Amino acid sequence: MSQDLPRMKTRVLRVPEKDLGKFRGDEEYEQSGLWEVSQTPSPSLQILHEAADYLRTKDTPVAFPTETVYGLGADATRSSAVRGIYTAKRRPADNPLIIHVSDLDMLRRVLTPEDTTNGTTNGKTNARTNGTTETIHDRIPEIYKPLIERFWPGPLTILLPNPTPSKLAPEVTAGLKTFGVRMPKSPLALSLIKLTGAPLAAPSANASTKPSPTMAEHVLEDLDGRIELILDGGPCHVGVESTVVDGLCDPPLILRPGGVSIDELRSCAGWEKIEKGYKDQSESGKAAPRAPGMKYKHYSPKAKVVLYEASFAAAKDGIQSEDFDAFVQNRQSQEDPHVGIIRTRYWKPAAGLQCGDFEKRETVKTETSQGSQEAAELDVQETALYDTTSGASIGKLMDISIGADTRSIAQGLFSALRELDRRGADIIFVEGTVDDEDIGAAVMNRLRKAASRIRS
Ligand code: TXA
Ligand code: MG
Repeated sequence: MSQDLPRMKTRVLRVPEKDLGKFRGDEEYEQSGLWEVSQTPSPSLQILHEAADYLRTKDTPVAFPTETVYGLGADATRSSAVRGIYTAKRRPADNPLIIHVSDLDMLRRVLTPEDTTNGTTNGKTNARTNGTTETIHDRIPEIYKPLIERFWPGPLTILLPNPTPSKLAPEVTAGLKTFGVRMPKSPLALSLIKLTGAPLAAPSANASTKPSPTMAEHVLEDLDGRIELILDGGPCHVGVESTVVDGLCDPPLILRPGGVSIDELRSCAGWEKIEKGYKDQSESGKAAPRAPGMKYKHYSPKAKVVLYEASFAAAKDGIQSEDFDAFVQNRQSQEDPHVGIIRTRYWKPAAGLQCGDFEKRETVKTETSQGSQEAAELDVQETALYDTTSGASIGKLMDISIGADTRSIAQGLFSALRELDRRGADIIFVEGTVDDEDIGAAVMNRLRKAASRIRS
């Protein structure tokens, strides 16, 4: 624990996502994004009202779930509050934050320069006086409209020009002329933003460099004592962060792969020629990354991660003996090694390492407010690890399967890395997935960043 902050008491408050509100209209909610917070009092709403008051007045951020990962939120219009995020996370201040809006009107207000909201805009009357009237002068660039219609609310972040003067605290954009924004799908996130009445700046709620949190427990692991409030809405459904796109350049670019796939983006009008504007570790180039956050070490558990690319994993039986031997030889510690395995499609339990029978199969289950079929579950098995030549027991093997399907791999990935850390893994061998299947590129991007060795 660093000396930079007095230690706080951190409270984790359970907030079931059921019955918090609804979208106005059923069919066209995606276009209008008009989230209405329920008028019926409930314990959950009571907590959200208190959290919203806290966000309006205090300078310490509040952790809350979104459908991608947990975010660490602050009122994006108040500098002192936004600075609190950087402090709590120990995040470098040159890495801009994205903002979260509950509806398009809130976004239009951000796009309107600070001093013209209630007056005139370029000689035209600003027609928007309530939540529903269309603006004469819509500042949302046309290029983004097909994406907003299709993917909002959801895991997509777009870059927009930041007006001058801007309502956003300068700390949000870290000196850039653009800001990133998304409308989350989680009812809890939408209600919290709406009740706060301001866009929330929110990066992922992990300590910088750690895997992003997909459960409230993960936030507590990283930020206990550094924030006061963690809102627990159960596990996140997507499990990796939003896709970040820049449509202000030609061709448009993907700056960070995430919960919306490149194929989904390509199928939208104006986005057919979208290009990859980021580079993974295995394709390392010298060019500066376009999204400032992409240059930092990220997503790393304490254990060393060895990643097997999908093609390599498919062609081989499992973990290669030379990789395992190299790990054993390079170990400093005299303690028995703890070896973690994260499997996806091809690897069998233990991935070819010599071990005892898997006697105990443990399912680490977390309650979710969305109903049991969406519960985040990890299949963890532990057994003794044997030396290949002598047959003696030399340590512990911990094996987790996160499923063969790309969506389930994405959902379980960060959780599995953290679970193995918690169980004391020294090394984690991970079976990768393919980039071009659904959101596989997001999974592999995170894994390549976490890995200290990549087998391909
Ligand atoms: O799913 C998500 O996006 C999560 C949840 C909490 O919403 N949030 C999140 O925020 O991942 P953060 O701050 O950890 O990541 C935002 C990414 C970073 O890579 C940052 O560098 C990039 O977006 N970014 C933000 N503003 C930008 C800008 N104006 N230009 C280029 N990149 C920007
Ligand atoms: Mg992050």
